[in-house]
Amino acid sequence: MAWVLLLAASCRPAAPALGPTLRERFGEHDFLTPRDAPPTVAVVAGGTIDTRAATCGACHADHQHEWGATTHAAAMRDLQFFGELAKPDQPVWLCLNCHAPTAPQRAETVTLDTHLAAVDSIASVIASPNPDYDPARVAEGVTCATCHVRRDGDGQGVVIGPRGSGRAPHRVRVDPDALRGICVSCHSPGDVVLTPTFPCWFKTAEELASGPDTARSCVECHMPEATRPAAAGGPDLTLRRHVWVGGGIPKTVEGYGLLMERGWSSGLTVAVRAGEGGDRGTVSVALTNTAGHSLPTGDPERFLRVEARFERAGATVSRDVLRVGQTWDWGDSATGRPARRTEDARIGPGATLTWPANADPSGADTLVVEVLSVRLTVENARALAATKLPPSLLTLWPEAEAELPELATRYPMATWVYRGTYPLPGGALPPAGGGELALEAESQAALIARSVTFAALPLELKAPALSTP
Ligand code: HEC
Ligand code: HEC
Ligand code: HEC
Ligand code: HEC
Ligand code: HEC
Repeated sequence: MAWVLLLAASCRPAAPALGPTLRERFGEHDFLTPRDAPPTVAVVAGGTIDTRAATCGACHADHQHEWGATTHAAAMRDLQFFGELAKPDQPVWLCLNCHAPTAPQRAETVTLDTHLAAVDSIASVIASPNPDYDPARVAEGVTCATCHVRRDGDGQGVVIGPRGSGRAPHRVRVDPDALRGICVSCHSPGDVVLTPTFPCWFKTAEELASGPDTARSCVECHMPEATRPAAAGGPDLTLRRHVWVGGGIPKTVEGYGLLMERGWSSGLTVAVRAGEGGDRGTVSVALTNTAGHSLPTGDPERFLRVEARFERAGATVSRDVLRVGQTWDWGDSATGRPARRTEDARIGPGATLTWPANADPSGADTLVVEVLSVRLTVENARALAATKLPPSLLTLWPEAEAELPELATRYPMATWVYRGTYPLPGGALPPAGGGELALEAESQAALIARSVTFAALPLELKAPALSTP
């Protein structure tokens, strides 16, 4: 029966050709590997505790409660993210390094010495199975251990803390700078071109450093202060809330309910002047960025949609729309044309963008100016909703199969961040040089409430199922 054996041997998949190691190919970057956070931390009195969020939360209930409703906690329950993971040749292992970043969340061990499968193919790595893998932790996304747990000199897990009170039952290493600076490793990884069509392009820290707010850190604006105990039964301390409110677009419709309580505020101030318009000489809209970094920052597909609209008795008379964001040519892997940014029309930190709107005020009784912060366009939402998730991704999130087709109704795509109504006295604009218009601006709470209803979104952003009949 030698031929059977021979056949079996020849059918065994050939070992993939070894490409370079990650270090050889890309150099050393934190985001190339999962964080070296072991599954347990050492207890001072002996023994260990596991590092799941629920375990930490048994003593740090406020932290767990706050974190549980953040984008960080939802990073592996994000429909857009899963849709994108399913794209052909996507380097899923790499995406997970920032979205499910600790070692126990990963089925395979990846280090800087791990080889790529072949030169210039980053979709797969030749990695070994991870004995510490705990599938139940995948859903935790960017979890407590991502920022707080590392390996100590003796290989045991240690909690990285900001102060070292001596009251903790677990081992603590005091390193406030490393803890507060950790944001940069994911939100500002620098300029690394991973493949011609996949640049890693988040530069929030560089933007901050280039603006007027250099003295302020990510933590200062995104983790507001509160006075309370650090752990159950401890003394009151001045601590930072674990809320990380960002651009005001939560991952679920329910998430809108928490934004105001958690301190969301727009990074824009808006002023409208009459008689300083564009071709038709009507109005100009000045948008000033008060966030420390560019607006928008982060994901290059985000943009602000600014609309100036003249209305009569509530009906649109004329309007003009401006897109504030980046424009990219995403490249072509077949021809090797590299991805490149063709335009950066964002508002820099501290900068003011003045937009001369071209809309005709004739016959109008009101001017409405609206700013919508957009995460996802209808076009992209449609493509993602039609994605078929492979079994390898469904093991990470089984419910995604049922939820992804409903992306358009379940997943907030945009939030209103400004809406001002300017009555036009006597049904006309003030004459040229008439100065700033009197304003009735909507409160941020009202804008958030309005955003919850997808039906109210402008037509070109709506998914087909949502458009008004
Ligand atoms: C994205 C990173 C990040 C994640 C995730 C995170 N923390 Fe923190 N945590 C910090 C930072 C930064 C500080 C220090 C804030 C300061 O004092 O400047 C901190 C401080 C703390 C403190 C010290 C007391 C205090 O509030 O200053 C405790 C306790 C704590 N975190 C518990 C947790 C728990 C429990 C979780 C998970 C439920 C968690 N953290 C998730 C970044 C994180
Ligand atoms: C059995 C209770 C308990 C558990 C479980 C626990 N902690 Fe703590 N932790 C404490 C106490 C108590 C303190 C000291 C609080 C104080 O200073 O008042 C503390 C302090 C801290 C601090 C601040 C350290 C500093 O700089 O002083 C951080 C950060 C922290 N814990 C994170 C975690 C994380 C992350 C987990 C899960 C891996 C965890 N803790 C699990 C009880 C616990
Ligand atoms: C291990 C990587 C990692 C670290 C470290 C990290 N983040 Fe994040 N952060 C993410 C990812 C990934 C998301 C987006 C998840 C999603 O959209 O599904 C995110 C989302 C956010 C958002 C929400 C943006 C929005 O959509 O409005 C804010 C704000 C934020 N992070 C701030 C911080 C700050 C401040 C720190 C440092 C204390 C930090 N992050 C540390 C990976 C990280
Ligand atoms: C001076 C305060 C300030 C500082 C410092 C700051 N941010 Fe922001 N950030 C904001 C504001 C305000 C927004 C909300 C913008 C909006 O909704 O209009 C925001 C939004 C974001 C968003 C959501 C994306 C977007 O454009 O809406 C991310 C991600 C983010 N910040 C990350 C960071 C990181 C990482 C750092 C540190 C490198 C940082 N921020 C420093 C104020 C700040
Ligand atoms: C260097 C760390 C890093 C890597 C690697 C990474 N991401 Fe992210 N990702 C982030 C951060 C930080 C955010 C939050 C930025 C923001 O909210 O604007 C984010 C947000 C996202 C979002 C949500 C965008 C939004 O507007 O809410 C998607 C989708 C996403 N990433 C997909 C991917 C995919 C797919 C990969 C792999 C090809 C990947 N990411 C690799 C750090 C990373």
